Amino acid sequence: MVKEKQDNIVLIGMMGTGKTTVGARLAEETGYPLVDLDALISEKAGCPIPQLFAERGEPYFRDLEAAVLKDVLAQEGIILATGGGAVLREENCREMAARGWVVALKATVEEIVSRVGEDPGRPLLAGGARSRVEALLDQRRQAYDFAHVIIDTSGKSPEEVSAEILTHY
Ligand code: S3P
Repeated sequence: MVKEKQDNIVLIGMMGTGKTTVGARLAEETGYPLVDLDALISEKAGCPIPQLFAERGEPYFRDLEAAVLKDVLAQEGIILATGGGAVLREENCREMAARGWVVALKATVEEIVSRVGEDPGRPLLAGGARSRVEALLDQRRQAYDFAHVIIDTSGKSPEEVSAEILTHY
C-alpha cells in the first residue's frame, strides 16, 4: 500500500480539520509512526502551547515551530501532523514539500467550529471561535494550496478521510 518506505506524509490544514486524528488513522494503516508537531514543540518548550503563547508570544512559538519542523523532517517514514499555522512561513512550506508528500485537509467554518469549539488548548481562538476561524481562514485562504493533494473532510469520518488519502498515495 505504501509507495516508498522513506517517504513522509505531511498533513497540513486549519485547526479542526482533523490532522492529528486522521494522522493516527494513517499511522495505523501504513505502519508509519505518527509525529505530532505541536506535541514536540510543547515537549521542547517544557510547557503547553497556550502557556507558550501567553508567556513567550506567537513569534517565539513560530521560531520554535520552524526549528522543530526542520528537525523532524530530517527523519524518513513518518506521518507528520503539523499545526495549522506551520504554513505561514515560506521556508516551512518549502521544507515540507521537499521532504514529504503533503496533504492539505480542508473543512467548512461550521465543521471547524463544531470540532474545536472554544477549545482552551487553541490560543488563537480566544475571543470567539467562529469569528476567529473566519478571520484566520480569510488570512490563510491560499496558504494550504501548495499541497500535493487537497482533501475536503467535511462530513467524513477520520477513517474515510484516511482511506481517501491513501487512494492518492
Ligand atoms: C495554530 C494551530 C495549532 C497550534 C497553535 C497555532 C494556528 O495547531 O499549532 O495553537 O496558527 O493555526 P492545530 O492546528 O493542531 O490546532
